[in-house]
Amino acid sequence: MNNMIKLNDFQLLWTQIEKEVIDSVKKFGKSGWYILGQGVKDFEQELTKFYPNNKYCTGCASGLDAIEIGLRALGIKPGDIVLTTPLSAFATTLAILRCGGIPAFVDTDENGLIDLNLARDFFTNNPNVKFFIPVHLYGQAINLEKLKKLKEDFDLKIVEDCAQAVLAEDESGFVGSVGQITATSFYPTKNLGCFGDGGALLTTDSNLHEISNTIRDYGQSSKYNHSIVGMNSRLDELQAIIMKDVFLPKLKKQTEHRRQIASIYINGIRNSEINLLQIPKNSKPVYHLFPVFSEHRDVLKEYLKQNEIESGIHYPILITDQTALHNIPHIISGSLDNAKKIVKQELSLPINSLITTEEANKVVKICNSWKTR
Ligand SMILES: Cc1ncc(COP(=O)(O)O)c(C=O)c1O
Repeated sequence: MNNMIKLNDFQLLWTQIEKEVIDSVKKFGKSGWYILGQGVKDFEQELTKFYPNNKYCTGCASGLDAIEIGLRALGIKPGDIVLTTPLSAFATTLAILRCGGIPAFVDTDENGLIDLNLARDFFTNNPNVKFFIPVHLYGQAINLEKLKKLKEDFDLKIVEDCAQAVLAEDESGFVGSVGQITATSFYPTKNLGCFGDGGALLTTDSNLHEISNTIRDYGQSSKYNHSIVGMNSRLDELQAIIMKDVFLPKLKKQTEHRRQIASIYINGIRNSEINLLQIPKNSKPVYHLFPVFSEHRDVLKEYLKQNEIESGIHYPILITDQTALHNIPHIISGSLDNAKKIVKQELSLPINSLITTEEANKVVKICNSWKTR
């Protein structure tokens, strides 16, 4: 299995960045400041360049926390309904639950993105609902113009979940440019990952920024002055320094690499049993994942494995089918047929910043040689 083409190869990554990371660790050690120091500040400032339209950034402990802090900064109260997608990491919904909110779900489109027409119907029929968490799934950008219009028409408070989509664009701009809050994760597999857990939320609003900073640090508005009930969700100084020195400077190039690998798949995979995402014209995904769809997904997964190609499933269970949600109030509006189909058919092919064109060509060849009968 040594030749396995992996979804992510962190051991290989380490061989390439070891020296730079050790230099960063030394810099951190020498600074003598371990919590919310200059390293976090510098990283926060640098990250705003990757989410144009956002002026301020609050580093925190995870993507889950970033969404929760964002909702709280926007003033969510227990019992408030929050519209979101049934197809995402469970964390998107978990953040709502942790705020005491009630998640509401509408179906996705065929690409797995929340269907903004259904979202519009939902807000029309439920004019009191003001919170919305769209997810830029798989590294795709949701239609930002439509999202903006929804925000304006219904006076929405939006947390854009950009955990999978840093630098993704559509014709009207970058993800994270519509919601009052942009939330992201640095979970190691993300396009911008760190060596553990981490997250951040960004905004253009200085008040929201100040509240977010307060919430992440025990609710302190100044040292030992606790103005609200907060949490300990501080981004690690060490992670921040490593991301700023080692990972952020590489992100644009790595994103281009992911796009090149994706174009090998898009131009090469020709198998009537394997369907690809239908990317809208002028949309520029960042390919956090490369999903394909097949009625015989599990057979394809096994075939790839036999040919030393790892694959993943995103996601095997719909959020609305998760046991954790069974006895908890939530709202399902309409059928979730597209999302249910994706749960049965989706398979993620290897895509990352290290995979070679030879490996990608092998993936294409194996996909094209697969026969279900
Ligand atoms: C879309 C999405 N939202 C939220 C999260 C939560 O991020 P974290 O794992 O850092 O809490 C993730 C990652 O797992 C994600 O993919």
